Amino acid sequence: MKLTGYAEHLSVAPGESVSFMVSTEEESFAAEIVRLFHGDRRPRSPGFKQEPVGSPVNGTYPGRRQETFDGSCGLVPGLPARGPEFALSLWVFPTTLEWPTAQCLVSRAAVDGGGFSLDIEGGHLVLRTGAGAGEAAQLAVAEGLVEGRWHFVYAGVEAGGGARIEFRTLDWPVVSGSATGDLPAPAAAAGTLAIAAQLDAPDARPTAHFNGKIAAPRLYSRVLTDRERVALVQGAGTELVAREALVGAWNLGSDPARDTFADQSGHGLSGKLVNRPEAAVTDHRWDGTVDWTTRPEHYEAVFFHSDDLADAEWEEDFRWEVPADLPSGVYAAWLKAGDREDHIPIVVRPPRDRATARVGVLMPTFTYLAYANERMSEEPQGFEESGIFAAIEPDPREAELGEHPEYGRSLYDLHADGRGVSYSSARRPILNLRPDYTWWGVRAPRHLGADLYLTDWLREKGFESDTFTDHDLHFDGVALLSRYKVIVTGGHPEYWSAAMLDALQAYLDVGGRLMYLGGNGFYWVTSVDPTSPHIIEIRRGYAGVRVWESEPGEYNHATTGERGGLWRHRGRSPNALVGVGFASQGFGNTAPGYERAPDASGPIADLVFEGVTEKPFGDYGLVMDGAGGDEVDRADPAYGTPAHAIVLASTTGHDEHYQLTVEDVMMTTPGLGGPENPKVRSDVVFMETPRNGAVFSAPAISWRASLSHNGYENDVSRITENVLRAFLEVEEWPG
Ligand SMILES: [Fe+2]
Repeated sequence: MKLTGYAEHLSVAPGESVSFMVSTEEESFAAEIVRLFHGDRRPRSPGFKQEPVGSPVNGTYPGRRQETFDGSCGLVPGLPARGPEFALSLWVFPTTLEWPTAQCLVSRAAVDGGGFSLDIEGGHLVLRTGAGAGEAAQLAVAEGLVEGRWHFVYAGVEAGGGARIEFRTLDWPVVSGSATGDLPAPAAAAGTLAIAAQLDAPDARPTAHFNGKIAAPRLYSRVLTDRERVALVQGAGTELVAREALVGAWNLGSDPARDTFADQSGHGLSGKLVNRPEAAVTDHRWDGTVDWTTRPEHYEAVFFHSDDLADAEWEEDFRWEVPADLPSGVYAAWLKAGDREDHIPIVVRPPRDRATARVGVLMPTFTYLAYANERMSEEPQGFEESGIFAAIEPDPREAELGEHPEYGRSLYDLHADGRGVSYSSARRPILNLRPDYTWWGVRAPRHLGADLYLTDWLREKGFESDTFTDHDLHFDGVALLSRYKVIVTGGHPEYWSAAMLDALQAYLDVGGRLMYLGGNGFYWVTSVDPTSPHIIEIRRGYAGVRVWESEPGEYNHATTGERGGLWRHRGRSPNALVGVGFASQGFGNTAPGYERAPDASGPIADLVFEGVTEKPFGDYGLVMDGAGGDEVDRADPAYGTPAHAIVLASTTGHDEHYQLTVEDVMMTTPGLGGPENPKVRSDVVFMETPRNGAVFSAPAISWRASLSHNGYENDVSRITENVLRAFLEVEEWPG
């Protein structure tokens, strides 16, 4: 990558500081703090708008290349020195037997330095040991393992060098294999045991990462007898098998919310998980329990992936001390090196104890993370042929992302073995989190770039606002929201934690006013890693529009234990909260505008539509030429839209790209497409809430892309302004 970087956090408060990490192939780079107002650079848009912010960090810095090391594993430091004899047992569920390099299951020190390594190579188990001084030998099993099945695996070397490896699958038809021979059996110094990777020295980088699940690894100071190995296959506990020889017995899934795991041998050799492998996954004993919290003893496995990444761990290049009086907004470190430039965005939130405006804008950073480094356009998901997209036009950054698999994946991507990705980290270069990034699916800005449409419009219309993020809301709760007369959402607030929903509900219950100007909001249950808050977790459940789904028994989050999937299926439908819920999505060439509901009359309709003349309104805009496009939501009493919600306008004329969302389809029938199905639409809704609170929903991702049309003089802009003014000024709703 010629020039890129990331910030320590996505949000920072005035008076605090945030560090920036940069990598460049150039000898030096320039950095300047800027405030961002508009990202879209395309010809019909108002253009890129940023303003300089004087700062001591503005200047030139030495360039350097910073490396990223992906791949998860488990490390157990503090292993005592051992004699020449040892044995290993573990349960293994491999998912990529066809793999270009060795995948290490368990290793201790460099093999040629007196260590050992039990690997899978070409689908076969291989045990390597060394006598030090560069001498090493290996023993391989001729029979191959089976992808996607649990195997009991054993490897042992006697003091005299007699070695044995064996495996067998747990279930019928049994596949098994073994090998015996002679291997060096040297004594080893104290050190670190690595699980799912090779670790040549305690301070080395793990290599040879394994894809698949491992459960119950145990290390013994002597080889095991036939009876002892059979007992292990049958599930005997640590008390019953070679108790006196047990060095360590690890429950990798002992603490799924954290990155540590317990030693059950009584020797206190607890371990640490590196790069956040997936926990709360079923192990070899799993019995069909669907919630790991009720049966944790069946969830002692961890799912390792060679492409997991929790934190790129780059070194800091500069630290920005944010002035205490800096206005809240969207800022960036604007980097330049050679002929390249990049913007690393950072939200400057309001001070932690007060608001500085009456309007609060919530930037959907959990959605940004869910889509972070999304590789759907490059991966074999079949989108090009599926017809979902009218056209796919990758941003140039897509190709650069393809050159950097180590920058990690999004919650829309699959790991190398085809399993869905359920964690996403903010601490890495996120190439699509850029103000001028255009998403290949709609050939226009989405996420940050699209959210800046609103930032720009608020300024053009003279509204003062504070800006904060999902992370701020998650941690500050209703105390943050309650300082504002009006909260305005981002364009795609899809990923919500329980804490965020609680806060928003509490805000609305005491008279808060919400403008939901987005599509497919409040959709996926999302949680935050308690020890690494820059990481979010989801499970895709078994319904909803999704590119992968959770495996049976793995619907509950590791980090919180809560059931994942759609909020609707946990009784918290968006319809009840904001009057509308997800209806459809479409990525065609055009998106529709809205027609005013024929029966929308009365004081609220008068207020919303004051000065509105277009019929229909909103059939223009910077995203697919229409305000009612991309992902859209509708009012539906069946899913909880309250009876008093007023539908003011609806889209008409969605094309076949829009199909009714899968969670609304009980039985597949003809007529699910936009041209025929009346449920495929976006409804603009006003809903009064307690104590003169209110929700206004204009639920389409592309709504905000119409705001600047015709020099900001258009009916989408007018309606948005009418509502925002009313939400700021009207004390009591007429009616
Ligand atoms: Fe989405």
